[in-house]
Amino acid sequence: MRIDILTLFPKMFETPFSVGILKRAIDRNLASLNLHNIRDHTHDKHRTVDDYPYSGGPGMVLKPEPIFETVESIKSEILPEDETDDLPIILLTPQGRLFSQQITRELSNYDHLILICGHYEGVDERVREHLVTDEISIGDYVLTGGELPAMVVTDAVVRLLPGVLGSEASPQEESHANGLLEYPQYTRPEVFRGWFVPQVLLSGNHAQITQWRQEQVIRRTLKRRPDLLDRTNLDPAERQLVERLTSSPKKSKLNLDKESIK
Ligand code: ADE
Repeated sequence: MRIDILTLFPKMFETPFSVGILKRAIDRNLASLNLHNIRDHTHDKHRTVDDYPYSGGPGMVLKPEPIFETVESIKSEILPEDETDDLPIILLTPQGRLFSQQITRELSNYDHLILICGHYEGVDERVREHLVTDEISIGDYVLTGGELPAMVVTDAVVRLLPGVLGSEASPQEESHANGLLEYPQYTRPEVFRGWFVPQVLLSGNHAQITQWRQEQVIRRTLKRRPDLLDRTNLDPAERQLVERLTSSPKKSKLNLDKESIK
């Protein structure tokens, strides 16, 4: 997959793209991450990228010309046979649709993405109306710019690409993969400061382990993010478990109330 990122601060991406799994994905040619400084597509002496909003108001607005020109220069590099009408051009903005694992999966199916990092008080509305095809927010809070959100989107998407995680992790089993939270994980030592690993995990009984993990997924999601249960297609066994944990008058016996969030 190729991801082109339009930013005023390409330096911000240096470390995240040069370590760990993202670096490995780049080195193995599974992902090519290209940074474009919007300022390189200005034509005046001061390399102006922003201007005052018409009819006043706080802050500055990113001008449309350098953003359009940067995207057009990226498109001109694409070979005609690789050209698609559905190339996503995504603006990172707090006004966008809320980013999720589902959107991550959706984006990971494309061969090419263009991400535009917004800044200042905003971006000239014509960029929204006539250039971008999608707008994404990473949460209901306002950051100083779209760079961190672009890193979040890139990281989440690249790790889903075939071959990126290798055999060391399964994107199928992690939190949010099936819409629910992940079960607790333990590693050695078996006893740490008097705290034991749950006995079932040491039993070698795979059926019991699977059942325990399924139950933990439901308990955890119920406790921390009950909203996710309403949005997920549970299988009959999971549905039954939710009903048992929520409707039982002996709920406390199941320790639901006691499970604390650390
Ligand atoms: N730019 C500033 N805040 C943002 C957010 N929460 N999501 C995406 N882009 C942003």
